[in-house]
Amino acid sequence: MAEIGTDIQKAAAILKAGGLVAIPTETVYGLAAKALDTGAVIKIFEAKNRPFFDPLIIHSNSLEKLHPYVLHIPEAAYKLAEAYWPGPLTLLLRKTVLVPDLVSSGLDTVAVRVPRHPLTLHLLEQLDFPLAAPSANPFGYVSPTQASHVIRQLGTKVNYVLDGGTCEVGIESTIVGFEDSGQVKVYRLGGLAVEDVEKIAGPVNVNLNQSSNPKAPGQLKSHYAPRKPLLLSTNIMESIRNFPGKKMALLAFSYAVKGIPAERTRILSATGDLQEAARNLFAALRELDDSDAELIIAEQLPSGFLGRAINDRLQRAAAAV
Ligand code: TXA
Ligand code: MG
Repeated sequence: MAEIGTDIQKAAAILKAGGLVAIPTETVYGLAAKALDTGAVIKIFEAKNRPFFDPLIIHSNSLEKLHPYVLHIPEAAYKLAEAYWPGPLTLLLRKTVLVPDLVSSGLDTVAVRVPRHPLTLHLLEQLDFPLAAPSANPFGYVSPTQASHVIRQLGTKVNYVLDGGTCEVGIESTIVGFEDSGQVKVYRLGGLAVEDVEKIAGPVNVNLNQSSNPKAPGQLKSHYAPRKPLLLSTNIMESIRNFPGKKMALLAFSYAVKGIPAERTRILSATGDLQEAARNLFAALRELDDSDAELIIAEQLPSGFLGRAINDRLQRAAAAV
C-alpha cells in the first residue's frame, strides 16, 4: 500500500524519477506524473485503466510556466486565467510539440490548469516540469475528494499519496475552449459556475455532447458512476412509491424524508448551500454506494450555479443504471 503523508520533498523526488503521486487539488485528487515523460504518463493510463483516447490535463503553478506548452493564448483565455487561477478552471489551448501526443491523445490542443491547493502549489513550485493529472479514480468511477478514497482504489498503484485533507470545491474543474471565431465554449461543467465564466468572457456556448466519441470524455454519458443503480429524482416521495419493497438510499439536497432510514440518507447541505453540496457530493455518493441499499435515489438540485454541474454529474451517474 502506498504511503500517505505531507512530505513535498518526497513527492517531488518520486515525480522526478518518473513515479506516480496522488496530489490534492481544490477540486478532486489527481493522479500525477511528469507530463513530458511518456513512460511516466503511460503509468497513469494503466493505473486508472483509462483508454488512450481520453486526454489528460497538465498542471503547473503559474500561467508563465505553462507558456512553453501552448502556441497561442486567446484574449478571453488570458482574462479567465487572470480572474480564476489558481482555481477550478481548465483551459483548452493549442499545444506545442513539447507536449507528448499521449497527453493530448493526438489532439492539437492541450488542457492546462493551475490548481489552488497550497500543498500542491508548493510541490509544483519546486518542479521544472508540469504534471499530467487526471482524477485519481478508476476510469468511469466517482472522483476522490479525500486521501482515503485514493488509497482504497489505487493504493497499490501509486507510489505516494500527498494528503491535503478534504477537497474544498469537491467537483472537477470547468473545462473551457476557444474557437477561432472567438466563441468561448464550455466542454465540462465543473467547480467554476458558467455564470462566473460569463462574467469575464461574455456569453458562452455550453457544449456537453453525450456521444460515444466525445471531445472530452467527461462528456461520456455514463461516467462518475457508482456501482449501484442511481435514480435522479425531481419528486422523491413519488420515486419511493415507485419502488415498493426495494431497499433505498437517499442523496438529498437539504432534507431527509420519512421512509428512508438515517443510515442510508446523506444530506448535501442542510442550509441549501450549493458550494457545500458540491464539497460533500462525491464522499456521500461513495458512502451510499458502500451501503446495503439496492437503489440510490438522488434529488435533483436547483439548476443555477454549481447546481447545474452537480445535476450533470448525477445525470451521468444515473445513465449507468
Ligand atoms: O479538476 C480537475 O480537472 C481534476 C484535477 C485533478 O485537476 N482533473 C480531472 O481530470 O478531472 P480528468 O482526466 O479526470 O478529466 C479531464 C477531462 C477529460 O474528460 C478529458 O477528456 C478532458 O479533460 N480533456 C483533456 N484534454 C483535452 C483536450 N485537448 N480536448 C478536449 N478535452 C480534453
Ligand atoms: Mg476524471
